Amino acid sequence: MTETIAPVSIHVRELDQGPDENTPRYWFGDDIFVTHFFNALSSTFPEGERFFIRSVRRYADQIDDGPLAREVTAFVGQEGRHSKAHDVHVALLVNQGYGVLRTINRIQRVVMTWLNDSAPRLSLALTTAIEHVTAVTAHQILEHPDVWTDAMDPSMQRLWRWHAVEETEHKAVAFDVYQQADGSVWLRRLAMVDATFGFLAEIFMRHSLMLIKDRQFRPTVLLRGFKTLFGRDGFVRALLPHLMDFYRRDFHPWDHENRALLEKRKLEWGLAG
Ligand SMILES: [Fe+2]
Ligand SMILES: [Fe+2]
Repeated sequence: MTETIAPVSIHVRELDQGPDENTPRYWFGDDIFVTHFFNALSSTFPEGERFFIRSVRRYADQIDDGPLAREVTAFVGQEGRHSKAHDVHVALLVNQGYGVLRTINRIQRVVMTWLNDSAPRLSLALTTAIEHVTAVTAHQILEHPDVWTDAMDPSMQRLWRWHAVEETEHKAVAFDVYQQADGSVWLRRLAMVDATFGFLAEIFMRHSLMLIKDRQFRPTVLLRGFKTLFGRDGFVRALLPHLMDFYRRDFHPWDHENRALLEKRKLEWGLAG
């Protein structure tokens, strides 16, 4: 069992401006491939974050640490609001003709609820792993908003920056609960392998289906897109070094110290408080 490190305060905010019917269809700099990559990511959040909430809540009564219990309440408040904000985005996508996302999410809800009920320990380990993937992605948004969010339509930019700030604030909550409830290093590592491949497959499927629907699943689009994601300065490639830290025996999410950057962006983006 490792010592709990007190993170920054976790503040539950309402999203003041998110995507709506005025948001352009290709809202990431008119780039179809990158827009659908982020659409795919966003469409996993509503059910994914409800899974995180159920996973963490299951162990809430085992927490004998007052500050952590309060952080769990704030974590649930933030993730609940994230789910709802991304529900709005998914509803927009369904209206645009990508109804397949709603079907996939319904299946995902059944599978994830079953997993919560039948394997709570694994569910919490998976939550811990995916929360790390999310925190590393959020850090990229905080560190390189020029690369990640400047090209977004303002309604989407607000959504992703708000989400990145809050994911950073609560990045250690599921991990600290896991350490108190179980703390098995091998299960945490196994969960990360599972989460990495499972998440990649899920994103690839959703991304491909949207590109196929738009008749953009073409070699030129794919090649250019893969370069954007996996190239030297690509979105995904930048995540890898920090992702690997999770496999360390003594890893803790706040080893990756980014509180100063978080505070700076909160002020810049009007999210302080
Ligand atoms: Fe979230
Ligand atoms: Fe989260």
